[in-house]
Amino acid sequence: MKNTGMRIVVALVLQALWLGTSHSEGPASPKINEELSKQEAIYRSTGEQVPEGYTVDRSLAVYAEGLSSDFGHALANLGPKDRWLDIGAGRGQAILDYYTADYDLAHPEGQERRGGKAQAVAMSIEDRRTRLWQQNAARLGENQIRYLFDRRLREYSLEELGQFQLISDVIGGFSYTDNLSGFVENVLGFLALNGIFYTVLQDVHSEAGTNPPYYKDSPFLTEITNADGAEVRACSWLKSITCVEVTCELKTEWKPPVEAYRIRKTCNDVTVPALVRIDYEAGTPPQRRYQLRN
Ligand SMILES: C[S@@+](CC[C@H](N)C(=O)[O-])C[C@H]1O[C@@H](n2cnc3c(N)ncnc32)[C@H](O)[C@@H]1O
Repeated sequence: MKNTGMRIVVALVLQALWLGTSHSEGPASPKINEELSKQEAIYRSTGEQVPEGYTVDRSLAVYAEGLSSDFGHALANLGPKDRWLDIGAGRGQAILDYYTADYDLAHPEGQERRGGKAQAVAMSIEDRRTRLWQQNAARLGENQIRYLFDRRLREYSLEELGQFQLISDVIGGFSYTDNLSGFVENVLGFLALNGIFYTVLQDVHSEAGTNPPYYKDSPFLTEITNADGAEVRACSWLKSITCVEVTCELKTEWKPPVEAYRIRKTCNDVTVPALVRIDYEAGTPPQRRYQLRN
């Protein structure tokens, strides 16, 4: 009896520990849980409570400035059978801009080939749809643009979402998640073969290592080390993923500067080197430290 009771207690404790770490890929601690709650409050903030740095209305032109230089061309080349997912879309302004007549005037190059527009899906934790979004969704028809909210990327299945030829993320889930390797694994699962994931990190040590942290006496916003404590730059970690082709481009016009990543899926056997979360401090975006698992 005593032994059985003890075994049940041990099993429950192990299960609780596993549940605490399974989504975050790092040990849970009261401090980190507090930071995650603060971050949740930022997502859910409305009106005057929205922190100044929490930008939710970047235009498509701003996306094109921040993302890799061929993003505009790749988007213009999508046809009506293609699909575009914007993770962390905020108000979905970039998608609305894509559907304007002005966009077609500015991008005549792919217009004949594409014939019609790709289906676009905006994803956000919180619902930031505006009246403009609702009007456009009604005008375009239900399946042309969709807005998904109340869940994080990891909470969707492949059956539910399907795959996409283009995925973008401008200071969205990739910059905000506490589980960076799990996030990238999920993104690559939703990316079609030869599809491209365009994203950025702000205030990160670039591939060439030429930039200092943006704020004096502060670390970079996202940092990775190996088991010996040596730095692993975000770009080289991304390049160590199998079945992807990665380019990294530092953009110093952004303040703080961003490094833009273009990640093309070249085969299906994707393996993302696992990262353990060491630290997470809520913010816009949060400050994160990870360590390579092995
Ligand atoms: C700072 S806003 C950026 C909005 C938009 N990309 C822009 O540039 O205007 C961050 C967005 O990322 C979303 N987000 C953060 N983590 C996410 C995740 N794991 N899955 C889906 N969306 C996420 C938030 O809900 C929010 O919509």
